[in-house]
Amino acid sequence: MIDQMYRKAVLTVAGQKTIENAVRARGWGMAQRFVAGETPQTAIQAVHDLKKDGIMANLDLLGEFIESPAQCTQFADNVITMLDAAHADGITPYVSIKLSSVGQGKTVDGEDLGLTNARRIIRRAKEYGGFVCLDMEDHPRVDQTLAQFRTLHSEFGGQHVGTVLQSYLYRTEKDRASLDDLNPNLRIVKGAYLEPETVAYPQKADVDAAYRRLVYAHMQAGNYVNVATHDESIIHDVQMYALAHGVSKDAFEFQMLYGIRRDLQRNLAAAGYRVRAYIPYGRDWYPYFSRRIAETPRNAMFVLRGMLKG
Ligand code: FDA
Repeated sequence: MIDQMYRKAVLTVAGQKTIENAVRARGWGMAQRFVAGETPQTAIQAVHDLKKDGIMANLDLLGEFIESPAQCTQFADNVITMLDAAHADGITPYVSIKLSSVGQGKTVDGEDLGLTNARRIIRRAKEYGGFVCLDMEDHPRVDQTLAQFRTLHSEFGGQHVGTVLQSYLYRTEKDRASLDDLNPNLRIVKGAYLEPETVAYPQKADVDAAYRRLVYAHMQAGNYVNVATHDESIIHDVQMYALAHGVSKDAFEFQMLYGIRRDLQRNLAAAGYRVRAYIPYGRDWYPYFSRRIAETPRNAMFVLRGMLKG
């Protein structure tokens, strides 16, 4: 409950224009802790740096709730430019996209623009042997995202497209089971949006318990699981579960956000686990940055200290 109140307070304050302007003006230095840079080149450099520690990468061009269809298509073009740049640099691209950024919910030429643009992105990623994960956004988008995932999976195959499920939503365990026929590559997260009690568990303990159930069920079904969390107790339990049930280390991976628990990322990689860092980059870093602050007061203190230093 306290977690929920803290998150709500931070996201409400962060949503105010005056706060946003102040943080945008003075906050880039602090945002760099969580965001690799503003250009594809800075993100690609971060991929190479992580590789030295045996950590894989997931590139994420920032941008949410982009308004016009032209902007959405431009955004998709920018993702494709990034795929080209990564490939040219010898990297097999692994990227995440938010369907809202590429036009989900906007109909152009009789088809959902998000689906059209996602197709273009996945087609290019597939040419390079790469992978595209469809991030999960706020709850009104879940049905459409899962339906579009199913379509894209049938067109490009599970080697090239995956999606995300959020353990805080009551519906998610049913959603996971309903996807089993695809043997999908799924990322399991707790969920980052401010959701009402009508759709999401308000208590952290319930979110955490559902998280474990989801990971175990997905492993048990023989599917590849991306265990995306910084929660050490869950990470430990997943390691134990995998050992006890003979799930090999290449049947799952741990995923964490760039700049968060770098020690844990390195230690897991050194212990032979697959580890991937989610590397956000781009000019539209403010909403992403606000959500990271809303996750833990420790991050808010980090920002406040930075701002006081001027
Ligand atoms: P929890 O919040 O319980 O934190 C566990 C511990 O980790 C805390 O005690 C703290 O010490 C540490 N920690 C967590 N967050 C931290 C932070 N920001 N800074 C410092 N320490 C922190 N969400 C979503 O809705 N849709 C999506 O598509 C994705 N995608 C995604 C990809 C990847 C790779 C990750 C890691 C996360 C996401 N998320 C997401 C975000 C996710 O839903 C969730 O908000 C965060 O991962 C934080 O939750 P934890 O699982 O880390 O646990």
